[in-house]
Amino acid sequence: MRDNKTSQPAQEYDAKVEKTLPLYRLFHEHTLDLIKVAKPTPAVWLDTGCGSGNLVGKAVKDFAKTHFILADPSEAMLSVAREKFENDKDVDLEFIQSGTERLDCAKESIDVITAIMSHHYFDIEMRKKATENCYRMLKEGGVYVTFESIRPQSEKGLQIGLERWAQAQLRQGKTLQEVEKHISRYGVEFFPISIDSHLQLLKDLGFSTVEVFWASVMQAGVYAIK
Ligand SMILES: C[S@@+](CC[C@H](N)C(=O)[O-])C[C@H]1O[C@@H](n2cnc3c(N)ncnc32)[C@H](O)[C@@H]1O
Repeated sequence: MRDNKTSQPAQEYDAKVEKTLPLYRLFHEHTLDLIKVAKPTPAVWLDTGCGSGNLVGKAVKDFAKTHFILADPSEAMLSVAREKFENDKDVDLEFIQSGTERLDCAKESIDVITAIMSHHYFDIEMRKKATENCYRMLKEGGVYVTFESIRPQSEKGLQIGLERWAQAQLRQGKTLQEVEKHISRYGVEFFPISIDSHLQLLKDLGFSTVEVFWASVMQAGVYAIK
């Protein structure tokens, strides 16, 4: 049985994630870069769908006074994340086992919420519920950041995008069989929406500033300010 919703067991996630997401490192770099400008001194930062804790692992260096909440529905992922911080006694951390849709942090208690590659498992209704929950938990002026695999505008664009993603995975050392297995999950196990749909959802929920701040072949980063 799988211990989380990604292609690999939690214990292998760090070693293998860049085979599936060749630009993975950039998602974190750009998120940190954005938060340094948009919300430089957050008191509380929730990383939902934190996985093995890589984003917070990098963030603690620049945000030493921030209280970080790491949430994920997978106990196996949280356990890898916990191990990562075992020797960081000075870091202010809290772990919660939950999906974003069920997170129960107090209303308007959080300055930054990041959801990096963790909301594309939702169907439309659940995505709305989860994103609405993020809006509820954010303080006024708080920043929501998400990176996700996206859906191109046209069928042709989708075909070309998936082929380019497959080629990139092969260059990262995956076998053809592994690549085909992963690409076949698109629209079946994870449900990307277009960049336009992302922006519309965030505007509909009431966010004031809604922007794309990074995009590549099949992934994009979007932020929104409450
Ligand atoms: C591709 S990993 C990304 C992990 C991490 N954010 C990172 O940047 O490495 C996807 C994560 O989303 C989590 N996930 C699955 N369902 C979720 C849900 N309903 N809400 C939040 N996260 C979820 C998975 O357990 C997994 O840890």
